[in-house]
Amino acid sequence: MTAEPRAILSMNAFSGEAGDDPLLARRLANMGAAAVLFYDKPVEMVSGQGAWMTDRSGATYLDFYNNVPSLGHCHGAVVEAVRDQIGRLNINSRYMVEIVDRYMEALKATLPSDLSNVVLSCTGSEANDLALRLAEVWTGRRGFVVTQTAYHGNTAATTEISPSAYKKGGGSPRIRTVPAPDPAVYGEDLAGGFAKAVAEAAADLEASGHGFAGMIWDSIFSSDGVHADPQGFLKAAEGAVHAAGGLLIADEVQPGFGRTGVMWGFERHGLAPDIVTTGKPMGNGFPMAGTMTRPEILSRFVEEFGYFNTFGANPVAAAAGLAVVETLRSEGLIARCAAAGATLKAELEALAARDPRIAAVRGAGLFLGVSLGREDAPDGALVRAVLAGLGRRRVLIGAAGRYGETLKLRPPLILSDAEIDHFVQALADTLAETP
Ligand SMILES: Cc1ncc(COP(=O)(O)O)c(C=O)c1O
Repeated sequence: MTAEPRAILSMNAFSGEAGDDPLLARRLANMGAAAVLFYDKPVEMVSGQGAWMTDRSGATYLDFYNNVPSLGHCHGAVVEAVRDQIGRLNINSRYMVEIVDRYMEALKATLPSDLSNVVLSCTGSEANDLALRLAEVWTGRRGFVVTQTAYHGNTAATTEISPSAYKKGGGSPRIRTVPAPDPAVYGEDLAGGFAKAVAEAAADLEASGHGFAGMIWDSIFSSDGVHADPQGFLKAAEGAVHAAGGLLIADEVQPGFGRTGVMWGFERHGLAPDIVTTGKPMGNGFPMAGTMTRPEILSRFVEEFGYFNTFGANPVAAAAGLAVVETLRSEGLIARCAAAGATLKAELEALAARDPRIAAVRGAGLFLGVSLGREDAPDGALVRAVLAGLGRRRVLIGAAGRYGETLKLRPPLILSDAEIDHFVQALADTLAETP
């Protein structure tokens, strides 16, 4: 059992020697200390289809971890769209190419109408980096509030707002953290308690001289351990952000594009964010990201800085993104995700009723967290053992939470009932063999 906070990249990470695996030796030589691989015995994958990946030996793995290919690995619509556009033209956004505008219009049709300006980029980190700069220029202040185990990216600025990325030392002076919205911390009045913590953190930034520019959250609180309910509880904290004069940035990199059973995570809470950022599943594997905001916020920023992104808004990304938005609609994937998520959650709750080591099953749609241990004694060691046991059964999942105490499940939205049963049986078998 561990009560030590864990850096997010250390969870389920390989940390040994290459041994007699030649590809592992090459990877360690090529990427050096920055090589981050999953599992004690890292796996070499060669292909993927739907909810499954195949390794070098031909063995197949059920993928309950990777939320980037959220329509399923190698979805035909995306593959075809990318193939077609890259054989036609790929160029930067200083030329007009119609598919780019078609994509932005399709994306905007899913968002609140006031967020009518779109800046496309390539990674969630870039999207959030720009969001921070927009909020700083708009408010004239530099301080941000984030949750205690948040992760928002890898640039200098987004690392500052990602407490879970720090392995040593304590973060940036212009950042204040609040505990994630967990009833174990805030008690029965989750909405009020979280909003009060946000208001106090914002006031502290004001008092410190940094000023309060805004708050950024991922509304499913993915790296914080998955906190989704009750729906609407974030509304009070949104009020606290605005009352303190800050902007609310909804980081939809994790919950966006249907993952929680609605198109956007902030929608579940009835929020009206000032800035929305997206990434990961946006291109179903094609790297693309976006920062959407009101025209006046972007105009104010552009008065002070030039902004150009060579690969953002490229036509191939637009083709991939358009295929994603159209497929979500044509295959009814958001409703399917809500239904599959409800089935999976019910089966996990049934398992929890039989196994007292499961402290809680949380989440929405197909973004679920299963905490192990007790509420007052999170069991990160058990999570690591379960991850390894599922890995041996060729079922891939992740970990989250301040102490790495939560199993993080994010299967593709096309998940079938048979795949749900396969997963739950594998988890039950793994728990049964784990002391
Ligand atoms: C909530 C959230 N925001 C932003 C990012 C950064 O996205 P990227 O890795 O594409 O830069 C991540 C990545 O894990 C994330 O989980």
